[in-house]
Amino acid sequence: MRIATLAAVAVIGMAVNATSMAQTQSPTPASAPPSSFPAWAYPWVPDFKVTPADDVPQHVPDSTASFTIKQERDLFFVPDWHPEDHPAMPDVVAHGRMPDVRACGSCHRAAGTGGPENASLAGLPAAYIIQQIADYKSGARKFAGPQRGPSVLMTAIAKASNEEEIKAAAAYFSALKPAANIKVVETDTVPVTQIARVFYMLVKDGGSEPIGQRILETPVDAAQFEHRDTRSQFIAYVPKGSIAKGEALATTGGAGITTPCITCHGPDLRGVAPIPGIAGRSPSYLVRQLYDFQQHARAGSAGAPMGPVVEKLSHDDMISLAAYVTSLTP
Ligand code: HEC
Ligand code: HEC
Repeated sequence: MRIATLAAVAVIGMAVNATSMAQTQSPTPASAPPSSFPAWAYPWVPDFKVTPADDVPQHVPDSTASFTIKQERDLFFVPDWHPEDHPAMPDVVAHGRMPDVRACGSCHRAAGTGGPENASLAGLPAAYIIQQIADYKSGARKFAGPQRGPSVLMTAIAKASNEEEIKAAAAYFSALKPAANIKVVETDTVPVTQIARVFYMLVKDGGSEPIGQRILETPVDAAQFEHRDTRSQFIAYVPKGSIAKGEALATTGGAGITTPCITCHGPDLRGVAPIPGIAGRSPSYLVRQLYDFQQHARAGSAGAPMGPVVEKLSHDDMISLAAYVTSLTP
């Protein structure tokens, strides 16, 4: 891979556990299946020094609520900044159940908007959500890249949750409207970032650097994002030309590289139940899924149609597809 940025070096240095670094660094020819995971999509610095959790009330724009950092970091609590944005949360989403079922809303946010470190759930078909939890439970859905903290917890939560909780969570998230909260920007250079545990954060006055072959997805306002405000906005910097390349692949299949996504995910890629919508979703998340399908880590029987779609995709193809798909309205 050609990326040689601060952030990428940190990911490669800190996060590689199962895959050899030598493989990560060898160039991948266009349209050949990659031999290693796309490191940029897995920011992970587990021992990143976070600010100590305290009891000082915090605020976000356009909300009269206040929560403390201690509350915001509690996985059995959901800071609900804008209750007017969503219906009442069922218990499993708002509180979870001790000791293992963490509140779905603590990671996926009260309005199901998620973040680059997990997944947006708003508007996914209920049957699809139920199937995915069943797949995490049975081991049919695993993670092929670095085993990052939130993903390990997701599997534990699925295993501990019961049928009633899963049904309630699926009904809640599927009824929400997906948010258009990611702006895709084609560029040659990006602001310098550092990895704040599981996401890329702008380095203040850090200057810029070449983007290389990667997508850089970052919250516009890191503090608002860390307060878990569902109205947080994101920018996804993508290499120049990748949206048009992705559009060609997604709509024509690129002369046999893949199958047109519109065949199954619908003409606007917003999904056709039980097939999930992919339009406007986090590009880091999308690429992790393409890679998981390709490595057969996502091997549930409902995912079988994705097999031929991903088989021949290179890292560059995945970047182009994600750039295009994210640029669409969810
Ligand atoms: C500790 C944080 C955390 C909590 C709490 C959490 N999740 Fe997740 N969830 C994740 C992560 C991380 C992923 C996967 C991201 C990836 O694949 O890279 C995920 C993925 C999912 C997916 C797959 C989405 C898709 O589009 O296929 C579903 C469905 C899901 N979670 C439902 C739930 C439900 C229901 C709950 C509550 C019972 C819950 N999650 C609680 C972190 C969390
Ligand atoms: C032949 C049908 C088919 C085609 C063509 C197809 N998909 Fe899919 N896709 C599916 C199905 C079915 C699922 C749900 C898999 C599951 O249940 O685990 C899925 C799931 C996904 C997911 C995971 C979504 C999530 O919420 O985790 C992504 C990402 C995805 N597809 C991307 C694409 C892209 C990009 C293309 C085009 C290059 C494409 N798909 C073409 C059938 C298809």
